[in-house]
Amino acid sequence: MAIHSATKKFGILTAGGDCPGLNAAIRGVCRAAHDRYGMEIVGIAKGFLGLIDEDTRILAPEDFSGILTLGGTILGSSREKPFKPTAGDEPASEKVSAIMETYSRLRLDCLVVIGGNGTNTTGCKLAREGLNVIGLPKTIDNDIVGTDRTFGFHSALGIGTEAIDRLHSTAQSHSRVIVIELMGHKAGWLALYAGIAGGGDVIIIPEIPYDVKIIGRHLENRASFGKTFSVVVAAEGAMSVKEAKMDKKERKKYQQESGPSVAYRIAREIHDETGMETRATVLGYVQRGGIPSSSDRVLATCLGTAAVELMAEGRYGRMVSLNGNDVDSVELFVPEDKVKNVPVDHYMIDTARAVGTCIGAH
Ligand code: F6P
Repeated sequence: MAIHSATKKFGILTAGGDCPGLNAAIRGVCRAAHDRYGMEIVGIAKGFLGLIDEDTRILAPEDFSGILTLGGTILGSSREKPFKPTAGDEPASEKVSAIMETYSRLRLDCLVVIGGNGTNTTGCKLAREGLNVIGLPKTIDNDIVGTDRTFGFHSALGIGTEAIDRLHSTAQSHSRVIVIELMGHKAGWLALYAGIAGGGDVIIIPEIPYDVKIIGRHLENRASFGKTFSVVVAAEGAMSVKEAKMDKKERKKYQQESGPSVAYRIAREIHDETGMETRATVLGYVQRGGIPSSSDRVLATCLGTAAVELMAEGRYGRMVSLNGNDVDSVELFVPEDKVKNVPVDHYMIDTARAVGTCIGAH
């Protein structure tokens, strides 16, 4: 017999960039909600778009069975931000009204939003409009304010590390410097962790603007000890000291004009600085695809079931989180700092330095 629950029926959606572990989280939420509390579940397609267009369906146990190990999201995702109007779009208020109407027409008691900083921000704003919302943090970037780790990160870290391993052998065979660009948005978590796991010779993250002269001396120093190859791990948001001094608009223009992406720019700068043969590799969406790691499956399942406990208790307006090793929750909020960056005094930066890795700065 189902235990009493404050929530009888809820909607669930995945929004923003996908990541490994989304289906594990959907399964965690749906299984606990259905089996333990007998809640009714409405799956919402393509993030907030599905609420605006009322693209929804009832989820039965067979819908969330056999999905634990699947990559992507069975619900689909989009980057729709209903509170942010863009040229040609309906005014934001109409989208928000459409969401409110769908929520009440479906007689939902709560909405579970699985996503990143943008999704939890939208969740918070919808909660302020009067909806019951529970947030569930996910992203390969690990940059969500309010939680110590996100699922998706560990899987992407494995993929990034394997790529660095593979680049080592080819860089060595050809005595080249290879720059690999990893995702991470404006944060350096993925590059920092994968760089350490893969033994990158240089790690460049957005939080520490790089000086190519420092990188050049480091690579020359390695070469003087017979290491004529190197792997440079750069976060997609990495920037030079010069770029860091520019205002946002100026920097955007400079970056657009200086090559397809940061890896190519850094590879060129290293070549100009040292004369070494360089190559660039952009790992891209490979990092977001495929099966979740065991660690991400566990985290997604724990956070998913914790979200259900909040719903059962009627503790709405919260985002489940990882606090150290404990599953916890925080009040939904609009983060002042849009992303959780790597603190410049983080122990992992010192760890990298301690094993002789150049961080691109003194
Ligand atoms: O937030 C996840 C992420 O994969 C970032 O690492 C990357 O900057 C971005 O999404 C890419 O977004 P899109 O799917 O919109 O191309």
